[in-house]
Amino acid sequence: MRISIIGSGYVGLIIGACLAKLGNKVILIDLDEKKIDAINSGVSTLYEEGLDELLSRTHVEASSDYQKIMNSKIVFLCVGTHSDKDNSISLEYLIQATEQVSRVLRDKKDYYVVTIKSTVAPGTTEGRIIPILQRWGRKVGKDFGVCMSPEFLREGKAVYDFMHPDRVVIGEYDSKSGDVLYSLFQNFNAPILRTNLRTAEMVKLASNAFLANKVSFINEIGNICKRLGIDTHEVAKGMGFDNRIGGKYLEAGIGFGGSCLPKDLKMLIAKAKQIGYEPKILEEVSNLNEKQALKPVELLKKYVSIKNATIGILGLAFKPGTDDVRGSRAIEIVEVLLGEGATIKAYDPLAMENFRKLYPYIKYVSKEEVLNCDAILIITEWEEFNGLDYTGKIVIDGRRIIKAEEARIYERVC
Ligand code: UGA
Repeated sequence: MRISIIGSGYVGLIIGACLAKLGNKVILIDLDEKKIDAINSGVSTLYEEGLDELLSRTHVEASSDYQKIMNSKIVFLCVGTHSDKDNSISLEYLIQATEQVSRVLRDKKDYYVVTIKSTVAPGTTEGRIIPILQRWGRKVGKDFGVCMSPEFLREGKAVYDFMHPDRVVIGEYDSKSGDVLYSLFQNFNAPILRTNLRTAEMVKLASNAFLANKVSFINEIGNICKRLGIDTHEVAKGMGFDNRIGGKYLEAGIGFGGSCLPKDLKMLIAKAKQIGYEPKILEEVSNLNEKQALKPVELLKKYVSIKNATIGILGLAFKPGTDDVRGSRAIEIVEVLLGEGATIKAYDPLAMENFRKLYPYIKYVSKEEVLNCDAILIITEWEEFNGLDYTGKIVIDGRRIIKAEEARIYERVC
């Protein structure tokens, strides 16, 4: 099938490469010429397991010319969204991209389906996107179709997740629109939910809110366990054997970061409030997560006077397996430590370059050098941190690095 993808960010690039591998003819549209050149030379613009190999072996064409979407059967809108000041979502880029698609496709003779992949609040596709697509006299349901099909890719595992989805959700304007998307996904070994547009939008937000909820829940249990001298990990293990609960997303620690869980949770809270509902559970999930980030600093103060101390940080990425520092807990922690007068030495196997763009003035060193600091904070659970010698050190562990328990002073957040 001929497919266009607008936006070669995280979601766009992954699904573009994967759909090309499955035999589709894919064209990626982006405004960033550097990204376009890289993709056209078969090089990935972001770190993601398996992506480099995929791009070097499959042909994905990238361009800034919207005219190239003319022959596509499906146009995926994968443009990034960001939080506004009130935590609702800014649709600025999505709307600009939709306007371009609408303008170019006004002369298209055959039927096509525009599909939203970007995470948006319920009602957005119907209320904001479809009116733009109809602006030039074209009629949805007649000249073209519309779907909203959320993505559930985890960073670091996105290629695998795309190829082996737990489910595919197709929100459709009408069955004719949904049939086109269904034909693209029908051979995936996964249940396919066909539903309406706003339900699909809500499935995405509710899924991320539920994962966030699970993490904050186990952190709350962990905070109680810590006071009682109980190992939270063992408790989570005991809970996870119950199929109704499941063992995943029960790793207690400094909470969830990244560009999705925190933002999507806030988006859902903002939407609920906008329609007059007070989402108390969701708000508490978010509040607890914010407090959890600073727990390592509280614990650190038991052992070290932060002013003038040199604090070592192991891990800057928001989770292992990625170089992404967006929403990383390391940001909140570094901010407070710098504010209180500490010198910081940090190490991460992948994310130092990205962190340096935010904090050029802290010292980026080897992991061995981090160990020579007055105290060490573990922020990301990279497996290689289990290979270090912590003997004689002061370590506050925000995740769970077993080897670090050998330190002279060792405390886990929960
Ligand atoms: C998340 C969802 O897992 C994906 O399904 C979704 O597609 C994606 O957001 C998105 O909306 O695009 P991702 O942001 O890659 O994926 O991150 P996760 O792997 O879910 O981890 C999020 C955060 O939770 C990380 O900071 C991680 O360290 C933390 N976490 C996760 C815990 O603290 N404990 C856990 O048990 C699990």
